[in-house]
Amino acid sequence: MKITEINLSSSKSVIYCGVGAFEKYAKQLIGTNAFIVTDSNIYKIYAKLINETFVSTPVYVISAGEKSKNKKTLFNILQAMLEHNLDRDCCVVALGGGVVGDIAGFAASMFMRGVKLIQIPTTLLAQVDSSVGGKTAIDFYGVKNSVGAFYQPFAVIADSLFLKTLPVRELRCGLGEIVKYGALDKDIYNKLFENIKNFSDISFLQSIIFDCIAHKIEVVSADERDVNGVRKTLNAGHTTGHAFELFYGRKSHGEYVLIGMYYELLIAERRGICWGQYPENLKKLICAVVKKIPVYADINKAAILALHDKKNTEGLISIIVPVSEGRVEEVKLSFEEYVKELEYAAMEIQNSYEKS
Ligand code: NAD
Ligand code: GLY
Repeated sequence: MKITEINLSSSKSVIYCGVGAFEKYAKQLIGTNAFIVTDSNIYKIYAKLINETFVSTPVYVISAGEKSKNKKTLFNILQAMLEHNLDRDCCVVALGGGVVGDIAGFAASMFMRGVKLIQIPTTLLAQVDSSVGGKTAIDFYGVKNSVGAFYQPFAVIADSLFLKTLPVRELRCGLGEIVKYGALDKDIYNKLFENIKNFSDISFLQSIIFDCIAHKIEVVSADERDVNGVRKTLNAGHTTGHAFELFYGRKSHGEYVLIGMYYELLIAERRGICWGQYPENLKKLICAVVKKIPVYADINKAAILALHDKKNTEGLISIIVPVSEGRVEEVKLSFEEYVKELEYAAMEIQNSYEKS
Protein backbone atom coordinates (compact mmCIF):
# COMPACT_ATOMS: atom_id res chain seq x y z
CA MET A 1 0.00 0.00 0.00
CA LYS A 2 1.18 3.53 -0.71
CA ILE A 3 0.42 6.77 1.07
CA THR A 4 0.78 10.13 -0.58
CA GLU A 5 -0.39 13.69 0.01
CA ILE A 6 -1.78 16.55 -1.93
CA ASN A 7 -0.79 19.86 -0.37
CA LEU A 8 -2.73 22.86 -1.59
CA SER A 9 -2.73 26.43 -0.29
CA SER A 10 -5.76 25.93 1.94
CA SER A 11 -6.01 22.18 2.39
CA LYS A 12 -4.18 18.91 2.58
CA SER A 13 -5.52 15.51 1.52
CA VAL A 14 -3.88 12.21 2.39
CA ILE A 15 -4.33 9.42 -0.12
CA TYR A 16 -4.12 5.80 0.99
CA CYS A 17 -3.86 3.59 -2.06
CA GLY A 18 -3.66 -0.16 -2.26
CA VAL A 19 -4.77 -3.49 -0.90
CA GLY A 20 -5.58 -3.29 2.81
CA ALA A 21 -6.06 0.51 2.87
CA PHE A 22 -9.75 0.18 3.71
CA GLU A 23 -9.25 -2.32 6.51
CA LYS A 24 -6.35 -0.41 8.03
CA TYR A 25 -7.51 3.19 7.77
CA ALA A 26 -11.25 3.50 7.15
CA LYS A 27 -12.52 3.01 10.70
CA GLN A 28 -9.71 4.98 12.29
CA LEU A 29 -10.04 8.01 9.98
CA ILE A 30 -13.79 8.19 9.99
CA GLY A 31 -14.30 8.22 13.76
CA THR A 32 -17.65 8.12 15.53
CA ASN A 33 -19.38 11.20 14.11
CA ALA A 34 -19.79 10.18 10.50
CA PHE A 35 -22.42 9.89 7.80
CA ILE A 36 -21.92 7.42 4.99
CA VAL A 37 -23.34 7.99 1.51
CA THR A 38 -23.33 5.09 -0.93
CA ASP A 39 -25.48 3.78 -3.78
CA SER A 40 -27.97 0.94 -4.08
CA ASN A 41 -25.72 -1.38 -6.12
CA ILE A 42 -22.79 -0.97 -3.78
CA TYR A 43 -24.93 -1.39 -0.69
CA LYS A 44 -26.35 -4.62 -2.10
CA ILE A 45 -22.83 -6.05 -2.28
CA TYR A 46 -21.12 -4.37 0.65
CA ALA A 47 -23.82 -3.83 3.34
CA LYS A 48 -22.16 -6.34 5.66
CA LEU A 49 -18.69 -4.84 5.25
CA ILE A 50 -20.04 -1.30 5.71
CA ASN A 51 -22.17 -2.08 8.77
CA GLU A 52 -19.52 -4.20 10.45
CA THR A 53 -16.76 -1.65 9.82
CA PHE A 54 -18.75 1.44 10.79
CA VAL A 55 -20.97 0.13 13.59
CA SER A 56 -23.90 2.50 14.41
CA THR A 57 -22.92 4.96 11.67
CA PRO A 58 -25.88 6.17 9.59
CA VAL A 59 -25.76 5.03 5.97
CA TYR A 60 -27.67 6.94 3.29
CA VAL A 61 -28.26 4.93 0.11
CA ILE A 62 -29.00 6.77 -3.13
CA SER A 63 -30.28 5.03 -6.27
CA ALA A 64 -27.37 3.91 -8.42
CA GLY A 65 -26.69 5.90 -11.58
CA GLU A 66 -26.13 9.39 -12.95
CA LYS A 67 -29.82 10.27 -12.63
CA SER A 68 -29.29 10.58 -8.85
CA LYS A 69 -26.83 13.43 -9.24
CA ASN A 70 -29.59 16.00 -8.84
CA LYS A 71 -30.76 18.68 -6.43
CA LYS A 72 -33.51 16.52 -4.92
CA THR A 73 -31.06 13.79 -3.89
CA LEU A 74 -28.59 16.43 -2.70
CA PHE A 75 -31.15 18.05 -0.40
CA ASN A 76 -32.40 14.64 0.77
CA ILE A 77 -28.85 13.86 1.88
CA LEU A 78 -28.58 17.19 3.71
CA GLN A 79 -31.96 16.66 5.36
CA ALA A 80 -30.98 13.17 6.53
CA MET A 81 -27.81 14.63 8.03
CA LEU A 82 -29.90 17.09 10.06
CA GLU A 83 -32.31 14.33 11.08
CA HIS A 84 -29.33 12.40 12.44
CA ASN A 85 -28.31 15.48 14.44
CA LEU A 86 -24.95 15.72 12.78
CA ASP A 87 -22.93 18.80 13.65
CA ARG A 88 -20.08 20.73 12.08
CA ASP A 89 -17.52 18.25 13.45
CA CYS A 90 -19.01 15.39 11.49
CA CYS A 91 -17.44 13.58 8.58
CA VAL A 92 -19.18 12.73 5.31
CA VAL A 93 -17.96 9.49 3.79
CA ALA A 94 -18.53 9.11 0.05
CA LEU A 95 -18.32 5.37 -0.50
CA GLY A 96 -18.94 4.73 -4.17
CA GLY A 97 -18.16 5.67 -7.73
CA GLY A 98 -17.97 9.14 -9.20
CA VAL A 99 -21.71 9.76 -8.78
CA VAL A 100 -21.61 9.20 -5.03
CA GLY A 101 -18.28 11.03 -4.74
CA ASP A 102 -19.57 14.10 -6.59
CA ILE A 103 -22.91 14.45 -4.79
CA ALA A 104 -21.74 13.48 -1.30
CA GLY A 105 -18.70 15.71 -1.74
CA PHE A 106 -20.96 18.60 -2.68
CA ALA A 107 -23.21 17.86 0.33
CA ALA A 108 -20.12 17.93 2.59
CA SER A 109 -19.14 21.32 1.18
CA MET A 110 -22.61 22.72 1.97
CA PHE A 111 -23.51 21.15 5.32
CA MET A 112 -22.83 23.69 8.11
CA ARG A 113 -20.79 25.57 5.47
CA GLY A 114 -18.40 22.66 5.10
CA VAL A 115 -17.57 19.52 7.06
CA LYS A 116 -14.87 16.89 6.80
CA LEU A 117 -15.05 14.69 3.70
CA ILE A 118 -13.52 11.27 3.10
CA GLN A 119 -13.68 9.69 -0.33
CA ILE A 120 -13.71 5.89 -0.57
CA PRO A 121 -13.83 5.34 -4.34
CA THR A 122 -15.22 1.96 -5.42
CA THR A 123 -14.96 2.21 -9.22
CA LEU A 124 -11.78 2.27 -11.24
CA LEU A 125 -12.76 5.66 -12.68
CA ALA A 126 -13.31 7.09 -9.20
CA GLN A 127 -9.99 5.68 -7.95
CA VAL A 128 -7.90 7.15 -10.76
CA ASP A 129 -9.80 10.37 -11.26
CA SER A 130 -12.93 11.65 -9.55
CA SER A 131 -12.06 11.01 -5.89
CA VAL A 132 -8.87 13.08 -6.13
CA GLY A 133 -8.73 16.80 -6.77
CA GLY A 134 -11.83 18.15 -5.08
CA LYS A 135 -14.30 18.65 -7.93
CA THR A 136 -17.83 18.05 -6.61
CA ALA A 137 -21.11 18.70 -8.39
CA ILE A 138 -24.63 17.81 -9.36
CA ASP A 139 -26.30 17.97 -12.77
CA PHE A 140 -28.75 20.87 -12.89
CA TYR A 141 -31.12 22.32 -15.50
CA GLY A 142 -30.12 19.59 -17.93
CA VAL A 143 -26.44 20.52 -17.73
CA LYS A 144 -23.97 17.99 -16.36
CA ASN A 145 -21.92 19.15 -13.36
CA SER A 146 -23.29 22.67 -13.73
CA VAL A 147 -23.59 23.35 -9.99
CA GLY A 148 -20.84 22.36 -7.61
CA ALA A 149 -17.80 23.35 -5.64
CA PHE A 150 -14.10 22.73 -5.34
CA TYR A 151 -13.96 20.91 -2.03
CA GLN A 152 -10.93 18.85 -1.13
CA PRO A 153 -11.38 15.60 0.79
CA PHE A 154 -9.50 15.20 4.05
CA ALA A 155 -8.56 11.68 2.93
CA VAL A 156 -9.02 9.32 -0.02
CA ILE A 157 -8.95 5.57 0.57
CA ALA A 158 -8.51 3.79 -2.78
CA ASP A 159 -8.52 0.05 -2.14
CA SER A 160 -8.64 -2.44 -5.01
CA LEU A 161 -10.76 -4.68 -2.79
CA PHE A 162 -13.79 -2.98 -4.33
CA LEU A 163 -12.70 -3.54 -7.93
CA LYS A 164 -13.28 -7.29 -7.71
CA THR A 165 -17.05 -6.82 -7.98
CA LEU A 166 -17.00 -4.18 -10.72
CA PRO A 167 -18.94 -5.04 -13.87
CA VAL A 168 -16.69 -5.37 -16.96
CA ARG A 169 -18.24 -2.24 -18.47
CA GLU A 170 -17.11 -0.19 -15.45
CA LEU A 171 -13.62 -1.71 -15.61
CA ARG A 172 -13.37 -0.66 -19.26
CA CYS A 173 -14.62 2.76 -18.31
CA GLY A 174 -11.79 3.18 -15.79
CA LEU A 175 -9.27 1.71 -18.23
CA GLY A 176 -10.28 4.39 -20.71
CA GLU A 177 -9.27 7.08 -18.24
CA ILE A 178 -6.06 5.19 -17.42
CA VAL A 179 -5.02 5.07 -21.09
CA LYS A 180 -5.83 8.79 -21.24
CA TYR A 181 -3.25 9.28 -18.45
CA GLY A 182 -0.87 7.36 -20.73
CA ALA A 183 -1.17 10.21 -23.23
CA LEU A 184 -0.29 12.72 -20.49
CA ASP A 185 2.56 10.93 -18.76
CA LYS A 186 5.51 9.14 -20.37
CA ASP A 187 6.09 6.74 -17.48
CA ILE A 188 2.45 5.67 -17.43
CA TYR A 189 2.57 5.31 -21.23
CA ASN A 190 5.59 3.00 -21.04
CA LYS A 191 4.13 0.97 -18.21
CA LEU A 192 0.88 0.52 -20.13
CA PHE A 193 2.78 -0.73 -23.14
CA GLU A 194 4.77 -3.21 -21.10
CA ASN A 195 1.52 -4.52 -19.60
CA ILE A 196 -0.82 -4.36 -22.56
CA LYS A 197 -1.92 -7.94 -21.86
CA ASN A 198 -2.48 -7.37 -18.13
CA PHE A 199 -5.08 -4.62 -18.26
CA SER A 200 -7.62 -6.59 -16.27
CA ASP A 201 -5.15 -7.99 -13.78
CA ILE A 202 -5.95 -6.52 -10.36
CA SER A 203 -2.32 -6.33 -9.22
CA PHE A 204 -1.36 -4.41 -12.37
CA LEU A 205 -4.36 -2.13 -11.91
CA GLN A 206 -3.37 -1.47 -8.32
CA SER A 207 0.05 -0.20 -9.32
CA ILE A 208 -1.17 1.89 -12.26
CA ILE A 209 -3.93 3.42 -10.09
CA PHE A 210 -1.25 4.87 -7.87
CA ASP A 211 0.65 6.26 -10.87
CA CYS A 212 -2.49 7.93 -12.20
CA ILE A 213 -3.26 9.42 -8.79
CA ALA A 214 0.34 10.69 -8.57
CA HIS A 215 -0.06 12.35 -11.99
CA LYS A 216 -3.38 13.89 -10.97
CA ILE A 217 -1.83 15.23 -7.75
CA GLU A 218 0.83 17.03 -9.82
CA VAL A 219 -1.81 18.53 -12.09
CA VAL A 220 -4.14 19.60 -9.28
CA SER A 221 -1.24 21.06 -7.30
CA ALA A 222 -0.41 23.24 -10.32
CA ASP A 223 -3.97 24.26 -11.09
CA GLU A 224 -6.46 23.38 -8.36
CA ARG A 225 -9.22 25.63 -9.73
CA ASP A 226 -8.83 24.71 -13.40
CA VAL A 227 -7.85 28.25 -14.38
CA ASN A 228 -4.35 28.25 -15.86
CA GLY A 229 -4.66 25.50 -18.47
CA VAL A 230 -2.79 22.74 -16.62
CA ARG A 231 -5.85 20.94 -15.27
CA LYS A 232 -7.64 20.97 -18.58
CA THR A 233 -5.03 18.52 -19.92
CA LEU A 234 -6.98 15.90 -17.91
CA ASN A 235 -9.71 16.52 -20.43
CA ALA A 236 -7.71 15.07 -23.35
CA GLY A 237 -10.04 13.19 -25.68
CA HIS A 238 -13.07 14.44 -23.78
CA THR A 239 -14.41 17.11 -26.20
CA THR A 240 -15.09 14.62 -28.97
CA GLY A 241 -15.55 11.68 -26.60
CA HIS A 242 -18.26 13.46 -24.67
CA ALA A 243 -20.06 14.62 -27.84
CA PHE A 244 -20.04 11.03 -29.15
CA GLU A 245 -21.14 9.70 -25.76
CA LEU A 246 -24.13 12.05 -25.71
CA PHE A 247 -25.07 11.41 -29.34
CA TYR A 248 -24.39 7.68 -29.80
CA GLY A 249 -24.35 6.61 -26.15
CA ARG A 250 -23.86 2.84 -25.96
CA LYS A 251 -20.38 2.34 -24.59
CA SER A 252 -18.94 3.48 -21.26
CA HIS A 253 -17.69 7.02 -20.69
CA GLY A 254 -14.04 5.91 -20.60
CA GLU A 255 -14.33 4.12 -23.94
CA TYR A 256 -15.80 7.26 -25.50
CA VAL A 257 -12.87 9.26 -24.10
CA LEU A 258 -10.55 6.93 -26.01
CA ILE A 259 -12.64 7.00 -29.18
CA GLY A 260 -12.60 10.78 -28.92
CA MET A 261 -8.85 10.70 -28.39
CA TYR A 262 -8.40 8.49 -31.46
CA TYR A 263 -10.34 10.92 -33.66
CA GLU A 264 -8.49 13.88 -32.15
CA LEU A 265 -5.16 12.11 -32.69
CA LEU A 266 -5.99 11.81 -36.38
CA ILE A 267 -6.77 15.53 -36.40
CA ALA A 268 -3.38 16.23 -34.78
CA GLU A 269 -1.65 14.08 -37.43
CA ARG A 270 -3.45 15.80 -40.27
CA ARG A 271 -2.45 19.18 -38.89
CA GLY A 272 1.17 18.06 -38.62
CA ILE A 273 1.55 18.47 -34.85
CA CYS A 274 1.86 14.76 -34.12
CA TRP A 275 3.86 12.44 -36.34
CA GLY A 276 6.17 9.42 -36.58
CA GLN A 277 5.79 6.18 -34.67
CA TYR A 278 4.18 7.78 -31.62
CA PRO A 279 0.61 8.14 -32.94
CA GLU A 280 0.70 4.55 -34.24
CA ASN A 281 1.76 3.29 -30.81
CA LEU A 282 -0.85 5.35 -28.99
CA LYS A 283 -3.52 3.95 -31.34
CA LYS A 284 -2.44 0.43 -30.33
CA LEU A 285 -2.83 1.34 -26.67
CA ILE A 286 -6.28 2.80 -27.32
CA CYS A 287 -7.32 -0.30 -29.25
CA ALA A 288 -6.26 -2.52 -26.37
CA VAL A 289 -9.34 -1.11 -24.59
CA VAL A 290 -11.66 -0.17 -27.49
CA LYS A 291 -11.28 -3.12 -29.80
CA LYS A 292 -12.65 -1.43 -32.92
CA ILE A 293 -12.91 2.33 -33.33
CA PRO A 294 -16.37 3.06 -34.73
CA VAL A 295 -16.87 4.92 -38.00
CA TYR A 296 -19.85 7.08 -37.22
CA ALA A 297 -22.63 8.28 -39.47
CA ASP A 298 -24.14 11.72 -38.79
CA ILE A 299 -20.86 12.89 -37.30
CA ASN A 300 -21.81 16.50 -38.14
CA LYS A 301 -24.82 16.16 -35.84
CA ALA A 302 -22.76 14.66 -33.02
CA ALA A 303 -20.27 17.51 -33.43
CA ILE A 304 -22.96 20.06 -32.49
CA LEU A 305 -22.77 18.71 -28.95
CA ALA A 306 -19.10 19.74 -28.75
CA LEU A 307 -20.27 23.34 -28.99
CA HIS A 308 -21.23 23.11 -25.30
CA ASP A 309 -17.80 21.99 -24.12
CA LYS A 310 -16.66 23.99 -21.08
CA LYS A 311 -13.16 24.48 -22.55
CA ASN A 312 -14.44 26.39 -25.58
CA THR A 313 -13.69 30.10 -25.79
CA GLU A 314 -14.30 32.84 -28.36
CA GLY A 315 -16.71 30.60 -30.26
CA LEU A 316 -13.96 28.05 -30.98
CA ILE A 317 -14.04 24.37 -30.11
CA SER A 318 -11.20 23.33 -27.86
CA ILE A 319 -9.67 19.87 -28.18
CA ILE A 320 -6.71 18.60 -26.17
CA VAL A 321 -4.70 16.43 -28.56
CA PRO A 322 -1.75 14.10 -28.03
CA VAL A 323 1.43 15.41 -29.69
CA SER A 324 4.30 13.28 -28.40
CA GLU A 325 5.06 10.87 -25.54
CA GLY A 326 3.62 12.40 -22.38
CA ARG A 327 2.62 15.66 -24.10
CA VAL A 328 -0.70 17.06 -25.19
CA GLU A 329 -1.58 20.42 -26.72
CA GLU A 330 -4.76 22.45 -27.02
CA VAL A 331 -6.06 23.01 -30.56
CA LYS A 332 -8.89 25.48 -31.21
CA LEU A 333 -11.11 25.03 -34.24
CA SER A 334 -14.12 26.78 -35.69
CA PHE A 335 -17.19 24.55 -35.77
CA GLU A 336 -16.89 24.15 -39.55
CA GLU A 337 -13.22 23.15 -39.31
CA TYR A 338 -14.02 20.72 -36.49
CA VAL A 339 -16.77 18.97 -38.48
CA LYS A 340 -14.50 18.69 -41.52
CA GLU A 341 -11.70 17.24 -39.42
CA LEU A 342 -14.01 14.67 -37.85
CA GLU A 343 -15.31 13.67 -41.29
CA TYR A 344 -11.74 13.24 -42.58
CA ALA A 345 -10.89 11.19 -39.50
CA ALA A 346 -13.92 8.93 -39.99
CA MET A 347 -12.97 8.44 -43.63
CA GLU A 348 -9.42 7.55 -42.66
CA ILE A 349 -10.62 4.97 -40.15
CA GLN A 350 -12.99 3.49 -42.74
CA ASN A 351 -10.15 3.31 -45.31
CA SER A 352 -7.89 1.55 -42.82
CA TYR A 353 -10.57 -1.13 -42.31
CA GLU A 354 -10.99 -1.58 -46.04
CA LYS A 355 -7.21 -2.04 -46.47
CA SER A 356 -6.88 -4.61 -43.72
P1 NAD B 1 -20.96 5.50 -11.03
O1 NAD B 1 -20.66 6.16 -9.76
O2 NAD B 1 -22.31 5.64 -11.59
O3 NAD B 1 -20.61 3.95 -10.88
C1 NAD B 1 -20.79 3.11 -11.99
C2 NAD B 1 -21.63 1.88 -11.66
O4 NAD B 1 -20.86 0.97 -10.89
C3 NAD B 1 -22.87 2.19 -10.82
O5 NAD B 1 -23.91 1.38 -11.26
C4 NAD B 1 -22.44 1.76 -9.42
O6 NAD B 1 -23.54 1.41 -8.62
C5 NAD B 1 -21.55 0.60 -9.70
N1 NAD B 1 -20.51 0.32 -8.71
C6 NAD B 1 -19.73 1.22 -8.08
N2 NAD B 1 -18.80 0.58 -7.37
C7 NAD B 1 -19.01 -0.74 -7.52
C8 NAD B 1 -18.36 -1.90 -7.04
N3 NAD B 1 -17.25 -1.82 -6.30
N4 NAD B 1 -18.83 -3.10 -7.40
C9 NAD B 1 -19.93 -3.20 -8.22
N5 NAD B 1 -20.58 -2.13 -8.72
C10 NAD B 1 -20.11 -0.92 -8.37
O7 NAD B 1 -19.96 5.96 -12.20
P2 NAD B 1 -18.42 6.35 -12.22
O8 NAD B 1 -17.96 5.99 -13.58
O9 NAD B 1 -17.67 5.85 -11.05
O10 NAD B 1 -18.47 7.94 -12.10
C11 NAD B 1 -19.10 8.72 -13.07
C12 NAD B 1 -19.41 10.07 -12.46
O11 NAD B 1 -18.20 10.65 -12.03
C13 NAD B 1 -20.05 11.05 -13.41
O12 NAD B 1 -21.13 11.67 -12.77
C14 NAD B 1 -18.97 12.06 -13.69
O13 NAD B 1 -19.48 13.35 -13.93
C15 NAD B 1 -18.18 12.02 -12.41
N6 NAD B 1 -16.76 12.42 -12.55
C16 NAD B 1 -16.28 13.33 -11.68
C17 NAD B 1 -14.97 13.71 -11.73
C18 NAD B 1 -14.43 14.67 -10.72
O14 NAD B 1 -13.28 15.09 -10.85
N7 NAD B 1 -15.18 15.00 -9.70
C19 NAD B 1 -14.12 13.14 -12.69
C20 NAD B 1 -14.64 12.19 -13.57
C21 NAD B 1 -15.98 11.84 -13.49
N1 GLY C 1 -11.63 14.95 -14.12
C1 GLY C 1 -11.07 16.20 -14.49
C2 GLY C 1 -10.62 17.01 -13.35
O1 GLY C 1 -10.57 16.55 -12.23
O2 GLY C 1 -10.29 18.14 -13.54
